[in-house]
Amino acid sequence: MKKIRFGIVGMGVIGNLHARTITEDASDEFALSAVADIVPDIAGKAGEKYGVPSFNDGLALYDSGLVDAVIIATPHYWHPPLGIEAARRKIHVLCEKPLGVRVGPARAMIAECGRQGVAMGCMLMQRTRATMMKMKELVDSGLIGEVFRVEMICSSWYRTQAYYDSGAWRGTWDGEGGGILLNQAPHSLDLFQWIGGMPNRVTAVLATRAHRIEVENSANIICQYDQPGKVGYIYATTAELPGTERLMVVGDKGTLIAEGGKLRHGELDMAISEHLVKSSAASADHIPHPKAAWKDVEVASGDQYGKHIEVTRAFARHLLHGTPLVVTGKEAINELEISNAAYLSGFNGGAVDLPVDAGAINELILRLERERSTGKGKGMRAEADAAMAKLMGR
Ligand SMILES: NC(=O)c1ccc[n+]([C@@H]2O[C@H](COP(=O)([O-])OP(=O)(O)OC[C@H]3O[C@@H](n4cnc5c(N)ncnc54)[C@H](O)[C@@H]3O)[C@@H](O)[C@H]2O)c1
Repeated sequence: MKKIRFGIVGMGVIGNLHARTITEDASDEFALSAVADIVPDIAGKAGEKYGVPSFNDGLALYDSGLVDAVIIATPHYWHPPLGIEAARRKIHVLCEKPLGVRVGPARAMIAECGRQGVAMGCMLMQRTRATMMKMKELVDSGLIGEVFRVEMICSSWYRTQAYYDSGAWRGTWDGEGGGILLNQAPHSLDLFQWIGGMPNRVTAVLATRAHRIEVENSANIICQYDQPGKVGYIYATTAELPGTERLMVVGDKGTLIAEGGKLRHGELDMAISEHLVKSSAASADHIPHPKAAWKDVEVASGDQYGKHIEVTRAFARHLLHGTPLVVTGKEAINELEISNAAYLSGFNGGAVDLPVDAGAINELILRLERERSTGKGKGMRAEADAAMAKLMGR
């Protein structure tokens, strides 16, 4: 059986984790075959460390003929141009989250992968968490009936000022293109919509507390859906301790709550919609509620983050055997639609309909860059946009 040869572009924090886990996995299905980083010293040291050839940019790695698939692990602005360059060389694309900063370039990358017939996946590995897989299975099975409320509290993304200072691009408009909504919360936004459904309208209040950064570190988002009366709420921050992650999905026949690696089911013996019309009790004091019982749902342990290597393995198996990806590019853009809509709502005011207007989010990011950039991000957005414009023939 042929092994899938992975290259990695961007050998920083997560590029190294991918290189280490692929190397340790010693699989007969896939292997690490080359690495690249725009900083020659980083590329060279990574090549030595993992015993593979190294390149000083992604295109040289693509043109080497050494890789069947690439993991794109650079800062976000570079994901779409590097993904499109790979696809045009028939190299399969496994992109780090988020797919990009704005939906326009991300949509272009998905379309190019489709046109070129290459696979496209995204490293939203939290979908491999046992509690989340179980919750998804139970919601989809109809156990809690029609879902009318979804709540994601993710205050567990705490980061220090030293973290934001650790990379020029971090916490900037022209280097990163956003804050918690683009770096940490994509995982939470993805779980929120994967399990609770995709909203069609978003209203947001964004804030920056305590950190000295250009971008938001806290987000409050209210979501509306095609289904009348259904509502979703998201709270995400990197500036709260001790913090928690709690996903709550409330349906007509019960509630599921995932928190701290545990999953609880609040089971009703009668659907709410049935009880509230059938019960003849008129006084609030005497209304007999449908019997509710809270139960722990059995899930496997070791749940905290999900495993990156499982996404990589599924990607290799997809190429070898046609089995499903953990998250396709088309699914991965949903969380970016939500975050882009939240930026538009948070900075321009009002509710924002999904799918997001690509021109509007582009304009907003350019405006925020003009008005708020300190120069720390070193113009990464402009460089990546120039590469993208060339690729799109503009
Ligand atoms: N899935 C996850 O759990 C997870 C975790 C961390 C980071 N990420 C994502 O991975 C990406 C990288 O994050 P990080 O924390 O590793 O950043 P990092 O700053 O530690 O590393 C980025 C690396 O990319 C290199 N680089 C920059 N531009 C490049 C280019 N055009 N071509 C080649 N190399 C380039 C930099 O020199 C640096 O070494 C981000 O998009 C982030 O959201 C995902």
